Amino acid sequence: MSTGEIGSTLRQPVFADWMRRAQEQTESALGRFLPSAKAIPYRLNQAMRYATLNGGKRIRPLLVFAAGDLTGAPTHRLETVACAVEMIHSYSLVHDDLPCMDDDVLRRGRPTCHVEYDQATALLVGDSLQSLAFELLAREDLGKQQLVMLRLLAVASGSCGMAGGQAIDLESVGRHLDLPELELMHALKTGALIRASVLLGAHCGEELSATEYIALDRFAKRAGLLFQVVDDILDCTASTATLGKTAGKDAAADKPTYVSLLGLEQARSFAADLKQQALESLAGFGEQARRLAELTEFITQRKF
Ligand code: IPE
Ligand code: IPE
Ligand code: MG
Ligand code: MG
Ligand code: MG
Repeated sequence: MSTGEIGSTLRQPVFADWMRRAQEQTESALGRFLPSAKAIPYRLNQAMRYATLNGGKRIRPLLVFAAGDLTGAPTHRLETVACAVEMIHSYSLVHDDLPCMDDDVLRRGRPTCHVEYDQATALLVGDSLQSLAFELLAREDLGKQQLVMLRLLAVASGSCGMAGGQAIDLESVGRHLDLPELELMHALKTGALIRASVLLGAHCGEELSATEYIALDRFAKRAGLLFQVVDDILDCTASTATLGKTAGKDAAADKPTYVSLLGLEQARSFAADLKQQALESLAGFGEQARRLAELTEFITQRKF
């Protein structure tokens, strides 16, 4: 190992430390951005905090921070953007768990929002988190790309993104999807927001060249799909206690997943291929893509 390598190893915290710090930073920024539990309307504000704080791996914020490394993005912008995407994500989980969707009672190791509060409150929590996410993106100066960023998050959240994917998911219960149909569903319901997290993080700093942007977008799409393939695998291999959400729900609800279509072994090998493709897309970025590469590994290896 050259002295330079030793030096850079010493300067860079190991991945686990970097991740813990970024998670803590996200937690504390979310706590500041969310409405106070002591402000009116108390119940809604408390439920928004309940659904967003004290849980979750914060993968999307981590991707925002890691992508910011590619463009030298300032921390305060990354924090704002990280919280905006995590709020959209938390809202999507609150609605995903409602009886009219997946009808789940456990999320992040605690009763789901509509169980702890009530369905009407859970609906409003989702609405309010979504609005707050966009308010955050519009609140401070995010640079020349700000309008592009607002549009990016809007498209990723709506009928061409997460909400659209959720609609396909619900329509697909009890139906057979072929691989391209399943890929589209996953790319929308989960992939779109993961992809947006990466692109938004990069947009917080200096502009990338067109070639770099295309490579990063390819990475983001592969990582997004990978995330949901692993979620499908964990649903049928991990326990409820480990996941902090009810295991075995996909099969019980007769949902098409990569496991139901390909079987467990092929789903695992598809995840390994996606990981490889994602990592290859980062090749041109060198050391600046280190955290993105480590996160890709984490997304693949995660146990919950
Ligand atoms: C779960 O997402 C829902 C999907 C989009 C697959 P995460 O696994 O990121 O959930 P948390 O935020 O860590 O609870
Ligand atoms: C959820 O997919 C995707 C969104 C919330 C947008 P799942 O329904 O598979 O997520 P979990 O397994 O309940 O977390
Ligand atoms: Mg669902
Ligand atoms: Mg669900
Ligand atoms: Mg799932």
